[in-house]
Amino acid sequence: MITKKEYANRRSGLINMMEPNSIAIVASAPVRVRSKDTLYPYKQDTTFSYLSGFPEPQSVLVLIPSRTQGQFVIFCQEKDQMREIWDGFLYGPSGACDHFEADDAFPITDIDDILPGMLEGRDRVYYGIGKDTEFDNRLMGWVNEIRAQRRRGATPPGEFIDIDHFVNEMRLIKTSMELKIMKNAAAITASAHRRAMRVIRPGMYEYQLQAEIEHEFLYQGATCPAYTTIVGGGKNACVLHYIKNQDLLVDGDLVLVDAGCEYYNYCADITRTFPVNGRFTRPQASIYEVVLEAQAEAIKSIAPGKPYNTANDVTIKTITQGLVDLGILSGDVDDLIGRGSYRDFYMHQSGHWLGMDVHDVGDYRLDQIWRDYEAGMVVTVEPGIYIAPDNLSVEEKWRGISVRIEDNVVLTRDGCEQLNENVPKCRVEIEKLMI
Ligand code: GLY
Ligand code: MN
Ligand code: MN
Repeated sequence: MITKKEYANRRSGLINMMEPNSIAIVASAPVRVRSKDTLYPYKQDTTFSYLSGFPEPQSVLVLIPSRTQGQFVIFCQEKDQMREIWDGFLYGPSGACDHFEADDAFPITDIDDILPGMLEGRDRVYYGIGKDTEFDNRLMGWVNEIRAQRRRGATPPGEFIDIDHFVNEMRLIKTSMELKIMKNAAAITASAHRRAMRVIRPGMYEYQLQAEIEHEFLYQGATCPAYTTIVGGGKNACVLHYIKNQDLLVDGDLVLVDAGCEYYNYCADITRTFPVNGRFTRPQASIYEVVLEAQAEAIKSIAPGKPYNTANDVTIKTITQGLVDLGILSGDVDDLIGRGSYRDFYMHQSGHWLGMDVHDVGDYRLDQIWRDYEAGMVVTVEPGIYIAPDNLSVEEKWRGISVRIEDNVVLTRDGCEQLNENVPKCRVEIEKLMI
């Protein structure tokens, strides 16, 4: 769990970056309706979580550097016996102070009376502009209220700055405490993948394998899947975001499992591809080896000081070379890369930042140029080859074979290291586990 001290460090890190005489405002995520009066499980806005750990909806976090009564303020729901009978415990303003170290906390119902006074006289507002239209409108309403009082000497803020630009940069570099949680998320996810490899049998349904995986997540204390689990048997794996998971798993096919859990607000994101019956066919093995080599080469290439696109370029090169060696593409490798011929088979990037969001925050380019890797960044490495079942330009034996291998790595001082251990990815180990 993230400690109070680490939350306090994050807030002071942000405050140190804020211009003098400014205010930061972060709204909680809205509650989302799934159907009539049933709701999706609540997920707090990750900027809000990052700065406070406060988990409740209908709350607003405010940072006012150098405010004499304290710079960290929370507006939240009041304690309410009736509400709590139906929906569970609420911290209430005094709980926000006691458990989350807010210097001051107020009922959310008082925000219209209090927040305009906090905004008045500030030059700048740090705010996640455009993330929540309803809250945008409320904020503009408060600013307009101050504007209307100008002749009485009120000074409305004149500048709005995107708070996420600052928070995202902080989130991009993980602390040792964050990495410890992410390793736990990865370890739970790893055991779920091992379980899937052990229990799969031809004739199972994709959703049954999904159930085995998600059982392991929850049984081991994860909050939920970090994203909808993908279990794609055979040609279903060619659909990159396949989430129906309704089909039978067929003897002789591969299955692609892309699944990761969320644990104390941090995500894992791991993919394995393995044979439904426990034994790779020769064409499946050939494709698998190319993807495995592409991933190994990419992981080797990731180190501080190298530009972000290094890993992607390495996967493109290895996959193109591999497809040429197998006779699936023909021609000069550099020409094929120049023409983008690999895109029929490998149509996504080799990875993304990983953290509190599965596709985590943080810029990939700075001033239009790929940024360099730095120690503490966490990135996925997930090359794949997807051969469409109706691709008549390849021999029949290749059609419908799709493989992705995905792991999570953290940048160290001189290279990178995998966060998740113990999920077999070499064929011999997979086949051994599947006996
Ligand atoms: N599971 C989503 C992704 O791999 O990016
Ligand atoms: Mn994934
Ligand atoms: Mn991913």
